[in-house]
Amino acid sequence: MNLLEFARASSTPESPLLAALRKATWQQTRHGRLMSDPHTGQVLTMISQLLQPQIALELGTFSGYGTLCLLKGLQSDGVLHTVERNDELFCLQDKHWAQAKGHNRIQRHHALAMDVLVQWDMSKNGAIDLAYVDADKQGIVDQLNALLPLMSNGGWMLFDNTWWNGTLSDATGAKPDALRELNARLLSDSTLTTTVLPIGDGLSAVRVSHHEGRAKQRQVQV
Ligand SMILES: C[S@@+](CC[C@H](N)C(=O)[O-])C[C@H]1O[C@@H](n2cnc3c(N)ncnc32)[C@H](O)[C@@H]1O
Repeated sequence: MNLLEFARASSTPESPLLAALRKATWQQTRHGRLMSDPHTGQVLTMISQLLQPQIALELGTFSGYGTLCLLKGLQSDGVLHTVERNDELFCLQDKHWAQAKGHNRIQRHHALAMDVLVQWDMSKNGAIDLAYVDADKQGIVDQLNALLPLMSNGGWMLFDNTWWNGTLSDATGAKPDALRELNARLLSDSTLTTTVLPIGDGLSAVRVSHHEGRAKQRQVQV
């Protein structure tokens, strides 16, 4: 057993609700592999519970598995925005979200990720404390650029698939190009502190600090 297998086997199993959503996602969609795996989902929950975001944003909802994981750490009067372009998934999301405590704090946007970012009304929606970026990879650098001014100072961004199955050293195409650019940018920007978590397909956890346009200092009461 390698370390990752041990970590998966020795971590608390997913809840019955998450297990039901996983099963339904595989049965009712053709792309179950797009869903966060249980271990990654658990790390999303852990990060959300540690940060206790007031405002969270997920780009790329799919069947809503990551949404439920992030919801667990959201403050009781917080809002979790989640953005998905494909409305065929909404039934599946609704059926499972309805069973989750605090599901009324989920605000779904049937939209393109960039449109939501560009049209984000800071005075109405507030600054984002936790962002999970998991939509199209080609647009990921544009999404970073649009997201940064919306982040609270001390907020965190999570980018999925930054390892790209270990192929980034020689893969060609728009997606690997974008991920290489993202990874380089995360390292070169002095306002960002990045830790790549070796889970799933690579999850980059990025702390944002001291950039223009920040709207609030994060204050978490523990
Ligand atoms: C990897 S899946 C998301 C998985 C989900 N976050 C989870 O944790 O299970 C990516 C989703 O992003 C959606 N998507 C892709 N590009 C998008 C875009 N530009 N705007 C909004 N949604 C997008 C896809 O339809 C798909 O459902």
